[in-house]
Amino acid sequence: MLQRLQELEESALGDLSAVGDADALEQWRITYIGAKGKLKSMAAGLKDVPREEKPAVGKRLNEVKQSIERAFEARKGDLGGGGAKAKSKGPALDLTEPGLAPPIGRRHVLSRVRDELVDVFGRMGFSVAEGPELEDDDHNFVKLNIPADHPAREPSENFFIDESSSTAAPRMLRSQTSTVQIRVMESQLPPLKIISPGRVYRPDTVDATHSFMFHQLEGLYVDRNVTMVDLKTTLFQFARSYFGPEAEVRLVPSYFPFTEPSAEFYMKIRLRQDRPAEWVELGGCGLVDPAVFESVGYDPEEWSGFAFGFGIERIAMGKYGVPDIRMLFENDVRFLNQL
Ligand code: DAH
Repeated sequence: MLQRLQELEESALGDLSAVGDADALEQWRITYIGAKGKLKSMAAGLKDVPREEKPAVGKRLNEVKQSIERAFEARKGDLGGGGAKAKSKGPALDLTEPGLAPPIGRRHVLSRVRDELVDVFGRMGFSVAEGPELEDDDHNFVKLNIPADHPAREPSENFFIDESSSTAAPRMLRSQTSTVQIRVMESQLPPLKIISPGRVYRPDTVDATHSFMFHQLEGLYVDRNVTMVDLKTTLFQFARSYFGPEAEVRLVPSYFPFTEPSAEFYMKIRLRQDRPAEWVELGGCGLVDPAVFESVGYDPEEWSGFAFGFGIERIAMGKYGVPDIRMLFENDVRFLNQL
């Protein structure tokens, strides 16, 4: 019996060292220390051992049991989580595994488009100017040569903060970034070349192309002998560098109180994949009206200039094929992550 116990221990430990994976280990466990394993059947044989040998055999049986069970536990630790697990009992970590990347946010498409526009015009020599969103009607209308009876000045068309009767220049949320033209010319002498991106507010009913708040990009160039050719070159150059060399653009004669002559700037844009490209008005432009120069104290005989104002949402929608302006303000990350 002692001899057989010795053989059992040797074969158990020998087989165990050959075990290479969890399945093989389980087979080994069943064979040697399972409920119907070799160790159990050996123990069952103890009752047939002559009485005087029993103590020695029983002791040896215990030793063998402990020895192979300990070896089994150690092997299990090795296979389960590497040597580290067996020793430290900590979680099984493979430090060479790539980590889980946390979701990273991105800048809103309108912020990116604004920065891209600033960049494109920056390369053409325009620097960025800023003006307040809380304006007064002097800068929003009067100095831009917009007469008192102009429909755009209707209280129902604007977000006035003050009653028009209460003060000479009632405050309002600006309805156009053209206000910044006035602010810049009031504080700087020509020549100058600026753009001004920013928010504007109008009480429009929200639909696929309207929002009560949107963004414009204003441009103003004042120098000697500025002509429509300079304006057209600048805008066409912008369109081609931002939308690509195939960009189709056109100017259509129009009217604005602060420019003369005035034009609307159109681009052929495909807003929806299921529809052909169509002419979309991006904004207005023209040569600065002499009355505007006079309102800021520039001599219209000496100075000339061009100005333009675009909707940044329109540009973003054209660039990225966004069919509905509301998508730009809903902040649905599933949409924003596609742009
Ligand atoms: N401010 C005009 C608007 O909001 C757009 C505009 C037209 C701006 C002509 C200009 C311009 O600078 O010259 O509709």
